[in-house]
Amino acid sequence: MAKEIIVSGVRPTGNLHIGNYLGAIKQFVELQKKYKTYFFIADLHAINEPQDPKKLENQTLEIAALYLACGLEPANTTLFLQSHIPEHLELAHILSTITPVGELSRMTQYKDKVASGKPANLGLLAYPVLMAADILIYNADAVPVGEDQSQHLEFARTAARKFNARFGETFKEPKALIQKEGARIMGLDNPSKKMSKSAASANNYIGMLESEEEIRRKIKIAVTDSDKEIKFEPKTKPAISNLLIIYSQMAGEEIKSVENKYKNKSYAEFKKDLAEVIIKKLSPIQKEYMRLIENKNDLLKILKQGKEEAQTAARATMIDVRKKVGLLGE
Ligand code: TYM
Repeated sequence: MAKEIIVSGVRPTGNLHIGNYLGAIKQFVELQKKYKTYFFIADLHAINEPQDPKKLENQTLEIAALYLACGLEPANTTLFLQSHIPEHLELAHILSTITPVGELSRMTQYKDKVASGKPANLGLLAYPVLMAADILIYNADAVPVGEDQSQHLEFARTAARKFNARFGETFKEPKALIQKEGARIMGLDNPSKKMSKSAASANNYIGMLESEEEIRRKIKIAVTDSDKEIKFEPKTKPAISNLLIIYSQMAGEEIKSVENKYKNKSYAEFKKDLAEVIIKKLSPIQKEYMRLIENKNDLLKILKQGKEEAQTAARATMIDVRKKVGLLGE
């Protein structure tokens, strides 16, 4: 039986943080072992918001190096840049013709971004359409993402359904792979909002490339709940529950067992150990990253190889899609 297909991507905007790692990339590394996987860098999605071109180039290479440093292996997965496969844009256009504008303007991310002052451009409005194309073009069965992307995934499923109803069975309806824990890491400075690359304060997140001193400092000042107990109760103790999730995910230890270990200990003791657990996990990734980022040509070579693999699949889908839509072949 053919392997199931998994597709996902990360935008090269701002600092990649441990929320991105725990919600998405950590899953990618596991999934590559069992499935046919396509993992890309969503550089076209990054330019929906104003970007400094040089910085975008560097951040794109940074994500490529981080993907590899976290454990993605070019022999087991297809790693590429979204912008290297123009077929994504072509499919996005076709999907846009069956997408009501009203549906897009009601999407949470669009509304939040515009409310926070981001330019309400067409690219931002059409963000979910391109994302649906990214996924459907590889006939994905499943898409590993953090919880914040679930509405976009639902949109992709609807787009697949609509296309199939109109033009005949073509796309699978991809399911979201959202982890039970770690799918929504909250901000360290505000546990009611998710950890975010674009947070106002850098104390909100721990970057994947953060120094040991910074990790210790940020965990030390992370918000805690008003009582003293180290207990997993997301509703009543959102701050400490978030820190427990981070500990558990980084150490590969059940939350229950972490809770037991710190039963009669103070927040200060717990936080001190948490910082070390994070450092222990990130430090080999950082070392490997430093090695990889020095060799830009090697990174480009890997992305080029990925491009060839992805393009073969994307082209095959588009031949079928064009025909179904009635676009005359050459
Ligand atoms: P992006 O770049 O914002 O985030 C990359 C991945 O990290 C997850 N994530 C989190 N997980 C847990 N806790 C958090 N605080 C947290 N913050 C972010 C995101 O859910 C995501 O999985 N639209 C996507 C990129 C994209 C994509 C795609 C993904 C473009 N096309 C096709 C999947 C399939 C995005 O902006 O991710």
